[in-house]
Amino acid sequence: MQIQENFSLLAFNTFNIDSKAAYYYAAEDIAGLKSLFKQQQETSYPMFLLGGGSNILLLGDYEGLVVHNQFKGIKVVAEDEQHIYVEAAGGEVWHDLVRYTVDHGWWGIENLSLIPGSVGAAPIQNIGAYGAELKDVFVTLIAMNTSTGKLAEFTLHDCDFGYRDSIFKQELKGQYFIISVTIRLSKAPQPKLSYGAINKSLEQKGIKEPTVLQISDTICEIRSSKLPDPKELGNSGSFFKNVIVPKEKLAELEGHYEKVPSYPVDEHSVKLPTGWLIEQCGWKGKRVGQTGAYAKQALVLVNYGQATGREIFQLSEEIKDSVREKFGIDISREVTLV
Ligand code: EPU
Repeated sequence: MQIQENFSLLAFNTFNIDSKAAYYYAAEDIAGLKSLFKQQQETSYPMFLLGGGSNILLLGDYEGLVVHNQFKGIKVVAEDEQHIYVEAAGGEVWHDLVRYTVDHGWWGIENLSLIPGSVGAAPIQNIGAYGAELKDVFVTLIAMNTSTGKLAEFTLHDCDFGYRDSIFKQELKGQYFIISVTIRLSKAPQPKLSYGAINKSLEQKGIKEPTVLQISDTICEIRSSKLPDPKELGNSGSFFKNVIVPKEKLAELEGHYEKVPSYPVDEHSVKLPTGWLIEQCGWKGKRVGQTGAYAKQALVLVNYGQATGREIFQLSEEIKDSVREKFGIDISREVTLV
């Protein structure tokens, strides 16, 4: 078993933080992973399950074992008249899976184009963008219990998906390593164009009936224009979640601000874009040392090059405090602290 010591995680986190793991293991097969977990039971080190590293903030060196999902493979496992069922290994790059399905002309995950991260991490936080979420296409996943080494299957119901949330972020946190995910895609066109920016961009190109490839390309363009490329500017996408507040809160804000963006949730609540709240507090484009809130999207915190995880964490706490002070609203992190 290839366990590496004092291993730099620089290439494996999109914040580009140069922290080290005391022990690192690249998991590629069931037998190896099983014996790793068995061996781990005999030690007292903490363990962290790493995917694409696009939703974590490394606060310092990790004094334990990092298990990196490197399971590979994408295949069609079933098909009926209307659907194709695709199983992808947890260590595949999410966007590679999207392009594989889009290239075949299958519909379902094109709106989730260019979301950084791995397939195995997608269900953990039920990734979503532009009016689509993983849960809309999810069928089942296979995961290994990190204590017993046993494989288990989780259906849609078992995963308890919510907004950027699942059972794997709650009760079962750290307890399952995701080996593969199966999704259901449609053979017939099912464009999801409710998100304004997509329609606008397709209109500008004169496209009335977009193909799945054209939608994917459009989403890639929109994302690239708004979100920084981690290779150039370290970041983990949205650092915080959007917030759900009672409708009365929105009415109160509308008394003070001309235009308050919001999305309906149910008859009592609305979702407010946390990026807007942060911008109102004056953080958008503001730089603090090697860190800052991105100039085109205040919800994205960035590493200008040499920031430590602690410095980014510190900035996030200051932002949280100022949103609480100005709006009386508690915002919560989307990223996982390690
Ligand atoms: N806004 C501002 N100022 C800002 C940022 C946003 O005023 O600095 C307001 C604008 O009114 C804008 C609205 O917020 O219209 C929404 O902004 P945006 O469309 O960029 O989306 P978001 O709500 O900030 C969410 C997801 C993103 C996803 C986009 C598009 C969360 C936490 N984030 O962001 O997901 O790509 O919608 O669907 O739900 C991620 O999770 O890492 C991520 C990037």
